[in-house]
Amino acid sequence: MNYHVLTLFPEMIEQGLHTSILGRAMEKGIIGLEAVDIRDYTEDRHRKADDYPYGGGAGMVMQAEPVFRACESVQSRIKGKRARVIYATPQGRVFDQALAEELAKEEDLILLCGHYEGIDERVLEEVVTDYVSIGDYVLTGGELPAMVMIDAVSRLVPGVLSNEVSAEFETFHDNLLEYPQYSRPEVWRGKPVPRVLLCGDHDRIEDWRREQSILRTRIRRPDLYGQYQKNREAERKAPSKKRLRLVLAEKPILADESWAQEFRRLVSESGLELVLVSEDTPDRFRRVLEEKKCRRQEILVFAASAESVLAAREDKLRTIYFPMDSREQEPEGLIYYRKISDLLEGMAVLRRLV
Ligand code: ADE
Repeated sequence: MNYHVLTLFPEMIEQGLHTSILGRAMEKGIIGLEAVDIRDYTEDRHRKADDYPYGGGAGMVMQAEPVFRACESVQSRIKGKRARVIYATPQGRVFDQALAEELAKEEDLILLCGHYEGIDERVLEEVVTDYVSIGDYVLTGGELPAMVMIDAVSRLVPGVLSNEVSAEFETFHDNLLEYPQYSRPEVWRGKPVPRVLLCGDHDRIEDWRREQSILRTRIRRPDLYGQYQKNREAERKAPSKKRLRLVLAEKPILADESWAQEFRRLVSESGLELVLVSEDTPDRFRRVLEEKKCRRQEILVFAASAESVLAAREDKLRTIYFPMDSREQEPEGLIYYRKISDLLEGMAVLRRLV
């Protein structure tokens, strides 16, 4: 993902986004960021990019031509189709997770930041594809909104978050808030950690967390909860095509007979089909996918080795990585997989996806 931010204050963007997770993603080249100084596209000797508004009124308006030229210069450098141009404005569609997910699919995004009293309407009509607000309040410029959007979109870009917390497996899906988290010490100022979190039973922990997410959403965000209920109702009436249909497990995963039995039971109770994969050709998963006429989203792979994770990744399949050799080196820089240390944990993930 490449962001191109058109702004009068490039240093604000450059300084604001180079730390922590996004900084690391930029170093790794997973995301690219350029702050384009609109003043570089003025023809004025003093690099003036604003002027008084026609019809009078307070403040200054950013002029059309420098904005247009800055934008066209970026578009001409982008290969392939023209990029979406997002104008940060309180008059736009309110930014939310669904829009973040939509934008994360793009290769390039141009973010246009206004200042003062706004930008000459004529250039907006020419270049802007999306008017987006980050909330119902007015800020002094579009730079903070652009940074908010870049942050929210970037964490959905494959490889930005660490493997363990690939956004695909996050609990914050279907409109639920995150469950509460706890860390050491076990008792803090007389307040103990909920006991269930110490029990080591992944299924129970997943269930508890799910319950907490639901309760919390109902109390704190009745609006989201209403949406969650609506979605569930719709799902019951017309199961989504995204629903899991097929589990592909490599044979060694089910080598332990007692666990294998549990696993098979869960798969069949959930109305899923289980296919055991025994060969190790690079296209082994794709072949099943084609044979079963499934969509990628309907499949979950249980991979027994790093090589298998890579093969599944090649086919863009969601993958649970259960290394048979615990000393095996994890595939570097890879996402779209969730590592587990026992089949119980895998079953908890599965339960959550069905
Ligand atoms: N520019 C000023 N205020 C804004 C907001 N709330 N959202 C997006 N852009 C803005």
